[in-house]
Amino acid sequence: MEEPAGPTSRAAISTRVVQGSQFLDEQTGALAPPLVVSATFNHANPQGLSYGRDHNPTWTLLERAVADLEEATDGVAFSSGMAGVAAVLELVPDRGVVVLARDSYTGSRLLLRDLAGQGRCEVRLVDATDLTAVTAAVEGAALLFVETLGNPLLSVPDLLGCSRAAHAQGALLAVDNTLATPLLCRPLELGADLVVHSASKYIGGHDDLILGLVLTRATELAERLRHLRTSRGGCPGQLEAWLALRGLRTLDVRLRRQTENASWLAGRLAQRGAVSRVHYPGLAEHHQHALAKSRFSSGFGAMISIELEADAATTERFCSATRIWANATSLGSVGSLLERRGRWEGEEYLPAGLVRLSVGIEDRADLLSDLDQALSAAGLAG
Ligand SMILES: Cc1ncc(COP(=O)(O)O)c(C=O)c1O
Repeated sequence: MEEPAGPTSRAAISTRVVQGSQFLDEQTGALAPPLVVSATFNHANPQGLSYGRDHNPTWTLLERAVADLEEATDGVAFSSGMAGVAAVLELVPDRGVVVLARDSYTGSRLLLRDLAGQGRCEVRLVDATDLTAVTAAVEGAALLFVETLGNPLLSVPDLLGCSRAAHAQGALLAVDNTLATPLLCRPLELGADLVVHSASKYIGGHDDLILGLVLTRATELAERLRHLRTSRGGCPGQLEAWLALRGLRTLDVRLRRQTENASWLAGRLAQRGAVSRVHYPGLAEHHQHALAKSRFSSGFGAMISIELEADAATTERFCSATRIWANATSLGSVGSLLERRGRWEGEEYLPAGLVRLSVGIEDRADLLSDLDQALSAAGLAG
């Protein structure tokens, strides 16, 4: 029998996602978190705050709220997801080896390509779903960097296996958990040392902010990251941190609806003749479905990639013919977005007809009929 939830038991994550960003101002009773815009603080303040590049109470509220969801003990907010990725890469010793999942966000891949070009580190790209390949690649490495759900092919690395392989070599495991969010998967519980988020995506959820977060259980790593933020100046804007706190409160309901929509759409898209392949780990026929099911607590996320039997120009026509889906980059918002990924530098390796869909909260039948009419408009129906 399950233990009755007593007053000391930890609340469910769907409660904490709301309550974690709740605030109570003891003097006024205000419940909304304060947006502290001050760039400097009087030296006499009891919290020891000094300058706005070092710390900010609104950042701290966000860091604590997301750290709690990720089962981390500490979190550091950055000006963007990429600033967070860059800070994690700065933890690698000079000329150290970084192993990166091939199915990774193009920004992370390009940054590592630049760093390797400057001789700062060595980069090994690996198929992170192949543990034998990961184990071979991490030999002598300082860092293994993977994504819970690879962007854009939605691959699912075995994080437990990755953490064992990395730790056996004394390497750190960093996991970009942007696409999954802590509601679906908490990589620190599976052995990761660092979790990275682009909060510009699901955490913010409304396409109106750019912000990053790095979460960890290692005090020493958190201190180094905080120092990097101060010394490099990659600190978030106060308004962005406040908006992220506000977005966080609805993350669970948004993601549930988005995931339901995505799961339904993935099944329907797989039946369309013009769609030769659907990348979505929630599909029973997906080769990593069993692993994803065992690792993800409540669904398979709200991103789908489809491959159209079409060249780049026809695929672009399809993307620009939608009326509900915006033909735009980014993901995680309440509004549905799609784009042909091969349009970007670094993503030329993808099939010309690969379209990444970020499923929003709109009516799912409307979303499907919009894709169907766009297929017709591009001459791809049937
Ligand atoms: C998986 C992933 N990580 C990191 C980033 C970078 O985040 P930001 O745009 O907030 O710098 C992105 C951006 O698309 C992303 O998709």
